Amino acid sequence: MDQSETATDNGSGPGTPAPTLGVGMVGYAFMGAAHSQGWRTAGRVFDLPLNPVMAAVCGRDPGAVRAAADRHGWAAAETDWRALIARDDVQLVDICTPGDSHAEIALAALEAGKHVLCEKPLANSVAEAEAMTEAARRARERGQLAMVGFNYRRVPAVAYARRLIAGGRLGTLRHVRVTYLQDWLTDPEFPLAWRLQRERAGSGALGDLGAHIVDLAQYLTGEHLAGVSALTETFVKERPLPSRASGLSAAADGTGRGPVTVDDAALFTGRLESGALASFEATRVAAGRKNALTIEVNGERGSLAFDLERLNELSFHDHTVDAAEAGFRRVLVTEADHPYLEAWWPPGHGLGYEHTFVHQARDLVHAIAAGTDPEPSFADGLQVQRVLAAVEESAAQDSRYTPVAPAVTVAA
Ligand SMILES: NC(=O)c1ccc[n+]([C@@H]2O[C@H](COP(=O)([O-])OP(=O)(O)OC[C@H]3O[C@@H](n4cnc5c(N)ncnc54)[C@H](O)[C@@H]3O)[C@@H](O)[C@H]2O)c1
Repeated sequence: MDQSETATDNGSGPGTPAPTLGVGMVGYAFMGAAHSQGWRTAGRVFDLPLNPVMAAVCGRDPGAVRAAADRHGWAAAETDWRALIARDDVQLVDICTPGDSHAEIALAALEAGKHVLCEKPLANSVAEAEAMTEAARRARERGQLAMVGFNYRRVPAVAYARRLIAGGRLGTLRHVRVTYLQDWLTDPEFPLAWRLQRERAGSGALGDLGAHIVDLAQYLTGEHLAGVSALTETFVKERPLPSRASGLSAAADGTGRGPVTVDDAALFTGRLESGALASFEATRVAAGRKNALTIEVNGERGSLAFDLERLNELSFHDHTVDAAEAGFRRVLVTEADHPYLEAWWPPGHGLGYEHTFVHQARDLVHAIAAGTDPEPSFADGLQVQRVLAAVEESAAQDSRYTPVAPAVTVAA
């Protein structure tokens, strides 16, 4: 049973209020707003076995974090994430900060006995991701759970595609073709925001967008990438220094320019464990492409295609049908028995980007209540991190085919 199929009874009987799960979130900007939407909404749409309570949010500016708490519905505001973790009313720490703080906050939260949800990419390096995965493994023995925020798994059409592939509808897989294209760095005068600084972000389009599509390719196929051959490029080498930067926007401070230390774009091919071939393109300089994520999977028995700009739809070609009648057909993934749809609107009344964060909150709450391992786990995040590292290694060696370090459990 995949996580989108989790039963919805809270087990306490009708009319009995579910026990609470106190959530504390670090970071309140782009992802902070999206996660807030998830925590605010999940228990009002789905019958959850635990009632998420938005206990406290943390930022560094006292006025700004208080305003964010009021806007997004958090009861309290903290200015030090250590204080947030220490709160008795926080059982789950939700990390929505840039990658340079993921490891430190996650390790401290796990050490303090809290469950953790951490935004992607899990960390800025394989070493950090290994430490986090090991800490999560130890915490698991104490009943604490940890999950990475690869939210696109929670698009109903993507979860349904996985169900079809896992059910054998495509047969033996031959190709996975994934692109994730944005254009907000096309302007060379866009400032040097944290996403363009290696020490803050780990990598560029690769970790930002590539991490998502590597996870999706592995999730959909149920296989890991065995090796990759890659090209990366930084087209704009210097940018204006920023006065502020949040999400995908920033302003220059007028004091000069600094070096861009991450990639603008990453292209790579890869081989899945089964021998199927995969191709990936991640860029933030594809003029006109805003958040264009497409996936196609081809197998011996058929093909599936998904486009995030039409996220309520899945294209399905059944190759076992007589050729005269076969062809891609559009499946509207809004039926009550499609993943996550049992609690939403009547068929055809579609969902959007923000619903992925509602589903993410829902799935994690179910896992915590049941004591089952949530997906994607920190180990899954580590596996993606290893692919990102192999891509960088390959790109540094003129695209030499580079094996991905095997996904072994980190030793105790
Ligand atoms: N799942 C997705 O689709 C998706 C989309 C965007 C970003 N992300 C990930 O989410 C994370 C955050 O990205 P974002 O776009 O929300 O960034 P952002 O710049 O919009 O927000 C970062 C937030 O972190 C806070 N912050 C930074 N350091 C802090 C510290 N030491 N203590 C407390 N608060 C701190 C900032 O004040 C800000 O509120 C990144 O890991 C990014 O890769 C995921």
